[in-house]
Amino acid sequence: MLTSLRVCDFRCFPALSLRFSPEANYFLGPNAIGKTSLLEAVCTLLRLQSPRAASLQQCVRFSRQEFSLEGICQKSKLRFRYGTAGRKLFLDDVPQPKTGDYLSQARITWFSNTDLELVRGGSSFRRRYLDFLGSQIFPSYLRALRSYDRALRARNFLLKEGRGHREISAYTVPLVEHGTMLRTCRASLLEMLAPLLAESAMQISGADECVSLLSLPGYEGDFFEALELSKKEETRLRHTTKGPHRDDFLLSLNHLPASEFASEGQQRTLALALKMAQSNLIEKQTGAPPVLLLDDIFGELDSGRRQRLLEAIPEKSQTFITTTSLAWHTPPSSASVFCLDRHDFAGEPQ
Ligand SMILES: Nc1ncnc2c1ncn2[C@@H]1O[C@H](COP(=O)(O)OP(=O)(O)OP(=O)(O)O)[C@@H](O)[C@H]1O
Ligand SMILES: [Mg+2]
Repeated sequence: MLTSLRVCDFRCFPALSLRFSPEANYFLGPNAIGKTSLLEAVCTLLRLQSPRAASLQQCVRFSRQEFSLEGICQKSKLRFRYGTAGRKLFLDDVPQPKTGDYLSQARITWFSNTDLELVRGGSSFRRRYLDFLGSQIFPSYLRALRSYDRALRARNFLLKEGRGHREISAYTVPLVEHGTMLRTCRASLLEMLAPLLAESAMQISGADECVSLLSLPGYEGDFFEALELSKKEETRLRHTTKGPHRDDFLLSLNHLPASEFASEGQQRTLALALKMAQSNLIEKQTGAPPVLLLDDIFGELDSGRRQRLLEAIPEKSQTFITTTSLAWHTPPSSASVFCLDRHDFAGEPQ
């Protein structure tokens, strides 16, 4: 749980200090005032990555060199600085050369309207979902993912250049090692997620629909053998055609592909259910619920689904919710409501 946050030169905020409720926190205000930016700051502090920016450079306030974020989380002090001079992380004021101990302090689940892409969009959205979850549950996941990406990039470069198989095979070894590890972790994630997804979908929709999740792996059987068999294809197409970089999963609703046959509301419910399943799985695996960051998602839901989603949020979770209006809901008395004002938002809750 995050009890405080200090933000400096992050997005539109020059400097801001906030103290949070251990339960629900609302960021309320008009468009473009900085609500999502605050949620993003929480995510960036806890997970060292932004859910909406490809590069953290986008989060540095215009015309500044770096941003800094600081917060107290589970009694530990986290500090993260990022800018043109690189990144620095501190845990209880001690510089951290590696991310492991720092990242083990907190886990999060981020909900936003772009989650709809998990159902409708290309496979990269679903891989990103699995990677974000995997890196919060399996200690070696992130390292395997980065090593796999490096080997894949190098291998594809050589294939594109039309180099010989001897040279290419130097990268096949790390590709197979880290790729097999990724595939194993993702297969286990999908197996654990399937029942949680079905349960969350039913909870949010209130309907007895049959939701299923089918793994579509980027290769079958042994990875090394799959690469050997695709040599001709690789030479012709000049890239690695088999591997976890092609992994995907199919979401079905009542035995039909949800991307083609589900209504917009049903797709939205499925996307929310995937995120809720993610949060439940993190809690099951780590023993503590993740911090939930909900970015303006309630406006798109009908009142029944809105209510059921709020009820589906585990009681022990700390939540951060952005919204332009609270007409749809009265926050509980334990909640902190931060009203962002265009001119002088000072960080005090109402
Ligand atoms: N790096 C940056 N430096 C300064 N300002 C930025 C930076 N990146 C984005 N902004 C600005 O920050 C403001 C707040 O953006 P944010 O997305 O947080 O708004 P919001 O309150 O979530 O709005 P909405 O309700 O429309 O989603 C915007 O005006 C945006 O242009
Ligand atoms: Mg926003």
